[in-house]
Amino acid sequence: MSIHRKPLSLILFLLTLSLIQSPSQSCHQVDKQALLGFKHKITSDPSDLLLSWTPSSDCCAWAGVACDPTSGRVVNVSRSGLMSGADFIIDTYMVGTLSPSLSNLSFLQLLDLSNLKELRGRIPPEFGRLSRLTHLFLDKNKLAGSIPTSFQFLTKLEKLFLSDNNLSGTVPFAVFSSLSSLSQLGLSGNRFSGQIPLSLGNMVSLTQLDLHENNFSGKIPDTIGKLKLLEYLDLSENQVSGSIPKSIGGLSKLVLLYLNQNQLTGTIPSSISGLVSMQFCRLSENKLTGALPASIGQLSNIQRLIFENNMLSGKLPATIGNLVNVTDIFFSNNRFFGEIPSSFANLGSLQTLDLSRNQLSGPIPPQLVKLQNLQSLDLSFNPLGLATIPEWIENSRLFRLLLAKTGLKGQLPNWLSSSSMSTLDLSSNRLTGKLPTWIGNMTNLSFLNLSNNGFHSSIPLEFKNLVLLMDLDLHSNMLSGQLDAVFSKNVQEPLGHFNSIDLSNNMFKGFIDENIGEKTAMTSIVSLVLSHNPLGGSIPASLGKLSALQVLELLGNELSGRIPMELGNATELTTIVLSNNKLIGSIPENILNLKGLIEFDVSGNRLSGRIPPHKALLPVSGFLGNPGLCGAPLPPCRHR
Ligand SMILES: *[C@@H]1O[C@H](CO)[C@@H](O)[C@H](O)[C@H]1NC(C)=O
Ligand SMILES: *[C@@H]1O[C@H](CO)[C@@H](O)[C@H](O)[C@H]1NC(C)=O
Ligand SMILES: *[C@@H]1O[C@H](CO)[C@@H](O)[C@H](O)[C@H]1NC(C)=O
Ligand SMILES: *[C@@H]1O[C@H](CO)[C@@H](O)[C@H](O)[C@H]1NC(C)=O
Ligand SMILES: *[C@@H]1O[C@H](CO)[C@@H](O)[C@H](O)[C@H]1NC(C)=O
Ligand SMILES: *[C@@H]1O[C@H](CO)[C@@H](O)[C@H](O)[C@H]1NC(C)=O
Ligand SMILES: *[C@@H]1O[C@H](CO)[C@@H](O)[C@H](O)[C@H]1NC(C)=O
Ligand SMILES: *[C@@H]1O[C@H](CO)[C@@H](O)[C@H](O)[C@H]1NC(C)=O
Ligand SMILES: *[C@@H]1O[C@H](CO)[C@@H](O)[C@H](O)[C@H]1NC(C)=O
Repeated sequence: MSIHRKPLSLILFLLTLSLIQSPSQSCHQVDKQALLGFKHKITSDPSDLLLSWTPSSDCCAWAGVACDPTSGRVVNVSRSGLMSGADFIIDTYMVGTLSPSLSNLSFLQLLDLSNLKELRGRIPPEFGRLSRLTHLFLDKNKLAGSIPTSFQFLTKLEKLFLSDNNLSGTVPFAVFSSLSSLSQLGLSGNRFSGQIPLSLGNMVSLTQLDLHENNFSGKIPDTIGKLKLLEYLDLSENQVSGSIPKSIGGLSKLVLLYLNQNQLTGTIPSSISGLVSMQFCRLSENKLTGALPASIGQLSNIQRLIFENNMLSGKLPATIGNLVNVTDIFFSNNRFFGEIPSSFANLGSLQTLDLSRNQLSGPIPPQLVKLQNLQSLDLSFNPLGLATIPEWIENSRLFRLLLAKTGLKGQLPNWLSSSSMSTLDLSSNRLTGKLPTWIGNMTNLSFLNLSNNGFHSSIPLEFKNLVLLMDLDLHSNMLSGQLDAVFSKNVQEPLGHFNSIDLSNNMFKGFIDENIGEKTAMTSIVSLVLSHNPLGGSIPASLGKLSALQVLELLGNELSGRIPMELGNATELTTIVLSNNKLIGSIPENILNLKGLIEFDVSGNRLSGRIPPHKALLPVSGFLGNPGLCGAPLPPCRHR
């Protein structure tokens, strides 16, 4: 039956549609003039979005213009720079300003001039006359000036997007107080300043409020609690201060709350438990203090809790263990103390737990082994007094394990050899013994930080098997031997090319391979730090082939010979530190004139000759201790 019914209803539908769409009247003259006035102020329209807008034709047939079928008046104008149809996407721009003539479209309901990128100038105050307007989209342009006070007359507005422009000034109190039909408001990515008006509380239909990335200051108005329909609230990246109002707990439909990167103080109110729909909560980068309220355990839908970089303190409430849907907890860099509650073992959806940089003490509850979805655990910089990596971690499925400065001692446990870890940071502990040959079995490693420990051995040849390794930090150990296993390691194309290497403060000997710049693993390295080792030989000219290299630090070695002129071919270099070696000869001019050079230090060598003229402002300290050097910034050379 339904098979027969469908085509019939479709035919009926098409019939009615064609009846409606055959316009009885052509475009109204006033509307046509208003639209031509807009076109007149557009100085460039590279994709011909307004090509059909000609004086001789019916404006109701123009692209992007829709008229009411009965009255023939223009109700919608939609010329967005980013248009997507069934099988096409146009991304284009229009250069010009907004003509006040558009305000003559007295029947207009929708105006979409978003994403045209190059619309400039002010929003004409005349737009306040568009009293039937329900949708206004002017986002993603370069509009300047402030929101016209006349916007208070746009009382039918349901959606207003002015985001990503260059708008400034305060938001008029009267505008917020009169827009009681507004459900979506986007003002993000502008330069608005001053207080968020108290009249915010009048916009009782709001479901989405996005004010992020502006310069709003003052407090979050208490009246925010009146916005009972609010689902999305983003005030991040402003200068908002004061405390989080208690009234916020009344927003039972709120799904997303972003207040990060502000100046908020005070405690997180216990009323937060009223946010029963909340899934995403981001309060990071503020100055929040006090303990987390136990009521936080009532946020049963929460998925992400991001509270890092505040001054939160007290014990972690055990009630957090009730949040069975939470996938990510970021509490880094606060002042939490006490033990990690064993109830955390109930967080069955947890993927990321970052409690680093707090004052948490041990032991870590072994029940955490139940967290079968946990992928990333960061407990670094807590006085946990761990001694050994907790056994339960052996049976977890972690990809990232960070336990820097947590009191680890002794040798690396054997079980690591069969883990599929991609990030391992055990730095700043008291680990000792050899770098085991089985480290080469950890072939999924892309980041390894064992710096600041007591490892003493050479780097085993098996290290070459770390085909995905990109960042290696072994600085401040007692490692010795040669470095070839590092520079010549294998890669698994296109992955596994080094990004950074820090092997400083060890006892590595021998020469730096003269072909270092041709090694596959080295081709895209950004930072190479080999300082404070007894490395000898000369600085390889092939380093000049490292086209991404920004930082080269070789200070405090026993390097001799000249500074190779080829180094100047590594044009991204910003930092060159070669001090306290035995380098001779002169400073190549091309190196000193590298475009991005910020730091240059060759002090304490045996360099000679005139310092070549250079543009960068380099301090004299970088040249001292070379008896044969002269010229600015050192004293002038003496003429013989
Ligand atoms: C005008 O736009 C609104 C909102 O997108 C839409 O619902 C309405 O059907 C459009 N009117 C006409 C005549 O196209
Ligand atoms: C609106 O239309 C009237 C009559 O056509 C015209 O005189 C007036 O200048 C228009 N207003 C604007 C702002 O263009
Ligand atoms: C934004 O506006 C200010 C003046 O209010 C102006 O100095 C600045 O150049 C504008 N920025 C852009 C990107 O147009
Ligand atoms: C933001 O506002 C503060 C005062 O609250 C002011 O000092 C600062 O200059 C403003 N920044 C910008 C970019 O407008
Ligand atoms: C967790 O999420 C699931 C689906 O996303 C949902 O059905 C369930 O109600 C949530 N649990 C709680 C305690 O809210
Ligand atoms: C590396 O990771 C992949 C994907 O997660 C996994 O299948 C593989 O077993 C891991 N290899 C090792 C040696 O752990
Ligand atoms: C390794 O850890 C130390 C702190 O323990 C830190 O200072 C260093 O930046 C880390 N290395 C990398 C490459 O992140
Ligand atoms: C490391 O891998 C090799 C070759 O696959 C294997 O023979 C050896 O037993 C492994 N070592 C450890 C400690 O897992
Ligand atoms: C590298 O620098 C040297 C000397 O400055 C120059 O002769 C050579 O052509 C450069 N090589 C490349 C590949 O740019």
